[in-house]
Amino acid sequence: MNLSGNTILITGGGSGIGRALAEEFHKQGNQVVIAGRRQQVLDETVAANPGMASVVVDIESNEGIRTFATRLEKEFPQLNVVIHNAGIMRPENLLENTDDLSAIDATVTTNLLGPLRLTAALLPLLRKQAKATVMTVSSGLAFIPLSLTPTYCATKAAIHSYSQSLRYQLRETGVEVIELVPPYVQTELMGSAQASDPRAMPLKEFIDEIFALLKANPNATEILVERVKPLRFAELNGVERYQEFFQSFNQAQAAPH
Ligand SMILES: NC(=O)c1ccc[n+]([C@@H]2O[C@H](COP(=O)([O-])OP(=O)(O)OC[C@H]3O[C@@H](n4cnc5c(N)ncnc54)[C@H](OP(=O)(O)O)[C@@H]3O)[C@@H](O)[C@H]2O)c1
Repeated sequence: MNLSGNTILITGGGSGIGRALAEEFHKQGNQVVIAGRRQQVLDETVAANPGMASVVVDIESNEGIRTFATRLEKEFPQLNVVIHNAGIMRPENLLENTDDLSAIDATVTTNLLGPLRLTAALLPLLRKQAKATVMTVSSGLAFIPLSLTPTYCATKAAIHSYSQSLRYQLRETGVEVIELVPPYVQTELMGSAQASDPRAMPLKEFIDEIFALLKANPNATEILVERVKPLRFAELNGVERYQEFFQSFNQAQAAPH
């Protein structure tokens, strides 16, 4: 994708990776529109970046997504990039609370149905543009699950699968599909402690590496920073080595980050 001159929607753009991407794209000369549930964090982000725009949306609501897409088409008819960054990550003990499926439902609805529904709602507009991009956000955990968060990892594996099918179906259109595969990054995804966890990649370092990769290879289909490669390619080492890695990875991460 071109790094400037786009009109870019970033879901979950009021915090963490989404906000950092929004600020960098804004700096590089793009019209950036951020979206999320919390008006206050959106307002703070826009105030810190004059010219940025925001729209409140709850990606869990199918009806909300349709209204949101209609509004975007009216207010930002040039929209040509969507970054499906909104997501939640919740620990689940599958042996307990078997009657309470709220974490499972919320995770699938936000992380999987949200991007799928929003892609469907925005594709007619994206296809009107000369060049457009759908950027999905999966995770290194799509490729080696952290068993503490089973539904989260399953949704991210599904996003990886969907990204490939979408890319193939759109191959003869002007819409490209890029999958951003973050490693463990310092944000508040799983709570405030994560933002200063020394095991996680500093957010600025992550964003700088993403932009360097996008610049070096504008036709990349996956954005893989160095830190995520051991997870992304874990299966290439064969089943036995993968199983060993899975065991040690899950033992090392047994405590919530
Ligand atoms: N940080 C990591 O280690 C890591 C690793 C791999 C992948 N990722 C992925 O990166 C993405 C961004 O996460 P992050 O680390 O930056 O965490 P974050 O700061 O918690 O960001 C998540 C964003 O998603 C938005 N969101 C959540 N539920 C939503 C809903 N129902 N409707 C609309 N927006 C919603 C949140 O905004 P509101 O609460 O205001 O709605 C928030 O801005 C996620 O998809 C995550 O899975 C992160």
